Amino acid sequence: MYNLDLILSVNSIFISFVRFSTLLTIALFFSCQKTNEKEIPGHGYIYDPKPFELNIPTAFPVMIIPVDNPLTEEGIALGRKLFHDPILSADNSQSCASCHLQDFSFSDPNRLSTGIDGIEGKRNAMALINVGWLSHLNWDGIAKSLEEQAFEPVTNPVEMHNTWTEAVASLKNDSTYKRMFFEAFGTLDFDSTQVVKAIAQFERTLISSNSKWDRYLRGEVSLTQSESRGFEIFFTEKGDCFHCHTTILFTDNDFHNNGLDAAFADSGLYKVTGDPNDLGRFRTPTLRNAIFSAPYMHDGRFQTLEEVINFYSEGLQYSETIDPLMKNVDAGGVQLTEEEKFYLIAFLKTLTDSSYIQNSFYAPFN
Ligand code: HEC
Ligand code: HEC
Repeated sequence: MYNLDLILSVNSIFISFVRFSTLLTIALFFSCQKTNEKEIPGHGYIYDPKPFELNIPTAFPVMIIPVDNPLTEEGIALGRKLFHDPILSADNSQSCASCHLQDFSFSDPNRLSTGIDGIEGKRNAMALINVGWLSHLNWDGIAKSLEEQAFEPVTNPVEMHNTWTEAVASLKNDSTYKRMFFEAFGTLDFDSTQVVKAIAQFERTLISSNSKWDRYLRGEVSLTQSESRGFEIFFTEKGDCFHCHTTILFTDNDFHNNGLDAAFADSGLYKVTGDPNDLGRFRTPTLRNAIFSAPYMHDGRFQTLEEVINFYSEGLQYSETIDPLMKNVDAGGVQLTEEEKFYLIAFLKTLTDSSYIQNSFYAPFN
């Protein structure tokens, strides 16, 4: 009895100690958090950004995130709002999402995109999907980061045709944006730098990894016979697609002349480098969700995947810079039978991730 009493009382001392130290830890935690907060008297906004952990899908490579733009919940929310808001355009009529529509895997269903002045651009707006892994943005790779890329559409005369001074002034006039910029970046004196950082943070969350192909790789489903045959054509010399549309991202992040033209209306990478070897070379686009991102190629010349496959099969044009990987150029391409074309398209359709275009996390922010 005596011993048990002692044990019990020692125990209760121990328990109170544990309770006390837990309270101490919680108190310390909050006081540490407090030091992160920056509250400017008067406006009541609080800067206490919460780090956002990206869920990198299995088998996907590491995503390189610039050290000066870590993802935070507040930054992503702000980027999402900006992406969908026409406030960035000169006449308040066009947002990023006007040309990058979620229903079309964030691409433009029109062959060429039209800016606020009704002028058509020269290129098709490609899908935005797994863009956080791209090391060169735009068809000619002119931008090296999503931050750098986002500077351009706002002032581009055939896109949003605004000035950054005007765009930032409109944002500063809006009390919701004032609060959101403060919450994301801790300043009311923000400029284009913080605008593009927020947009880039949102764009890094545009991840698709739930196509049938992904589920097949995870062992959750099997492919039909047509899909498997298409898979073989894609990943062997037969179709020879995998050299450029490679890795789990279906792009090698590199530039090629895939033989669309004998002479170039758009010189592609050459515009950026001035190197004649780069004439007609464009960045390999991903094929994920291709079913939603028609029309195809930098100028949107093909309306359907069938047209694309016919081109690779028998429509190649020779030019000096055509990629050595393009085979049988004299005969026009890889020469697929009608059956093989059908299988190849069945495989391409396994890259469809409908959950991506329905994901409410990417929808307009209210
Ligand atoms: C008027 C239509 C239009 C608007 C508005 C527009 N874009 Fe684009 N976007 C395009 C076109 C066209 C391209 C291809 C440009 C090129 O290759 O020269 C493109 C390319 C891109 C790319 C490159 C994707 C890749 O795979 O390389 C990103 C990222 C992007 N846009 C984001 C944005 C953001 C962010 C905004 C808003 C600030 C925006 N766009 C507004 C039409 C538009
Ligand atoms: C030498 C590299 C290379 C090979 C091989 C290759 N592609 Fe491409 N592919 C590209 C490039 C580069 C583009 C963009 C060209 C442009 O727009 O000027 C492209 C564009 C596409 C597009 C349009 C995507 C879009 O969003 O506009 C599809 C679809 C496509 N390729 C499928 C295939 C298939 C299927 C094969 C095999 C039969 C194949 N590719 C072989 C490099 C290649």
